Amino acid sequence: MSLFQKKHKRKHKSSSFAPAENQKTLHKNLEFTATEQYKLLRANLEFTIPEGEKCPVIGVTSSMRGEGKSTTAVNLSYVLAEKGSKVLLIDGDLRIPSVAKKMGIKGSPGLTDLLMGKGASIADFRTELLEEWYILPSGDIPPNPSELLGSSRMEAVLNDLRKMFDYIVIDLPPVNIVSDALSVSHLITGMIVVIREGYTEKKELEACFRHLKLSNVNVLGCVMNEAKSGNGAYGKYRKKYRYYKYYRYYQSNYEMPKDEQQK
Ligand SMILES: Nc1ncnc2c1ncn2[C@@H]1O[C@H](COP(=O)(O)OP(=O)(O)O)[C@@H](O)[C@H]1O
Ligand SMILES: [Mg+2]
Repeated sequence: MSLFQKKHKRKHKSSSFAPAENQKTLHKNLEFTATEQYKLLRANLEFTIPEGEKCPVIGVTSSMRGEGKSTTAVNLSYVLAEKGSKVLLIDGDLRIPSVAKKMGIKGSPGLTDLLMGKGASIADFRTELLEEWYILPSGDIPPNPSELLGSSRMEAVLNDLRKMFDYIVIDLPPVNIVSDALSVSHLITGMIVVIREGYTEKKELEACFRHLKLSNVNVLGCVMNEAKSGNGAYGKYRKKYRYYKYYRYYQSNYEMPKDEQQK
């Protein structure tokens, strides 16, 4: 039986989507990121996804926080929907969810409600920005995100969703900090790894790929976020944002791995 109720089609009330919020994240409103790069990512993905795969599920992760996973997941799902595919973006960061905040929508109900068996109409998650773009927020933060993401319940939810969409993109937490992204990896088509130039440390990236390899994760490719270009606009944004602030903030919110806790 499907977890989703097909009836009670309700549209988002216009107040549930705040354009002022999403303007900070969506590529079409940003100076710092080139629309063409996301389109290129979409084109490259179409080549890497196994042929004949019905509704590929693409996880987006990175080694640490603040590297641009959520920004990439939002924009990748957007450009896929822009091309006419029916796309669902899931906020799979059940510890520090950010998609709802970035897009100015309610964070709940969401994924955790579906995992708890609460029925929902998928129509409630349709965005107003694009006809075929749906966003499933995290829902309330659960005590056991890693177990939930790797559970048979998650498998059932994804199987149901796969029947309704052409693509599913899942925004996941960083690999080097919590095991959530690895837990869900056996349920997805593959993973995109985000690297932030001038921010991601080499040893962190090596550790990230070690984890992914040990868990047999199918890495579809890497996204170099904030890559240097000849364009001066990037330099401008670098100076404006102090990324290491984010680092400290996130560190206190994620559970630290045991060896790091002892330091
Ligand atoms: N290319 C970029 N240039 C400038 N700021 C960026 C860029 N990519 C992401 N950001 C900003 O950096 C912060 C962290 O990005 P986010 O996508 O939330 O990272 P993560 O999900 O990996 O923690 C956000 O405030 C986001 O708006
Ligand atoms: Mg994030």
